[in-house]
Amino acid sequence: MDPYQDAAELLARSKMAVGFTGAGISAESGIDTFRDPGGVWDRFDMSEVGTADGLLNTITRHPEKVLGFIKSTVETFESALPHAGHLALRDLEQMGILKCVITQNIDDLHSQAGNTDVIELHGNLYRARCISCDKKEKLERDGVLGRARQVIEQEDFNPLKLAGVFPKCSCGGLTRPDVVMFGEAVQGMERAYHISDACDLMIILGTSGVVYPAAVLPHEARKSGTKIIEINPTENSFSEITDVFIQAKAGEGLPEVVSRVRKIVGK
Ligand code: OAD
Repeated sequence: MDPYQDAAELLARSKMAVGFTGAGISAESGIDTFRDPGGVWDRFDMSEVGTADGLLNTITRHPEKVLGFIKSTVETFESALPHAGHLALRDLEQMGILKCVITQNIDDLHSQAGNTDVIELHGNLYRARCISCDKKEKLERDGVLGRARQVIEQEDFNPLKLAGVFPKCSCGGLTRPDVVMFGEAVQGMERAYHISDACDLMIILGTSGVVYPAAVLPHEARKSGTKIIEINPTENSFSEITDVFIQAKAGEGLPEVVSRVRKIVGK
């Protein structure tokens, strides 16, 4: 029994594989996960910064908590680059095996790595959404982070200035980051359902599988007979439906699997 070889053989045979990813795939890029020890929800209160109402309330009552949260986000995102695990998913797409990545991450790293079809269930930090007309606009990563850094570095932190990080819409309306907070609708779910039904292989990387509706997708895939590979260093979150479990970090486990796929398919 060699789970790396088993995973490689499943991928080499697949006609339509998809990736399903969460915060853990970006851990090796320096972005904290949410629920691992020391993770985001250990350091910040989800009810204070993870919902739109909570955030507005915290901005008014405890701006220093918002400052801490934004600082930590800006600092980690500034230095985050795609790593070998993201690049291995890109390689699988270029080999014609992986058709799509469904991610819960807002960090844009799959697109930066070169995957061309990424469903971002929880949005993207580098996209503005108009509060009035709902128009979305992709922004330059460095511009967003640079403007945010200017606001957090001012001597008297004024959270209202965060509004200037995201430029006004062409309709004149204010915009906000196009990210999904708790209690808000996820994005692209209908297509993600469809793809999960249609794929013959799903490779799950870096998610605890506790946040719905995203976490329903592997189960949806399984209902139609899809094979499931999971790579995670600490837990087999989808143990009841996993065909192959590789206990490893995404940046170590996936490149090893992909190098074996190359040997099998000769690409
Ligand atoms: P979690 O923090 O819940 O889970 C992270 C998972 O990544 C855990 O299973 C870890 O074992 C695993 N992990 C850690 N390091 C890893 C590595 N190097 N390689 C592979 N796996 C690793 O993060 P998510 O499941 O993404 O939503 O959380 C789901 C949602 O909850 C997020 O999108 C966010 C959060 O609150 C919203 O904010 C709406």
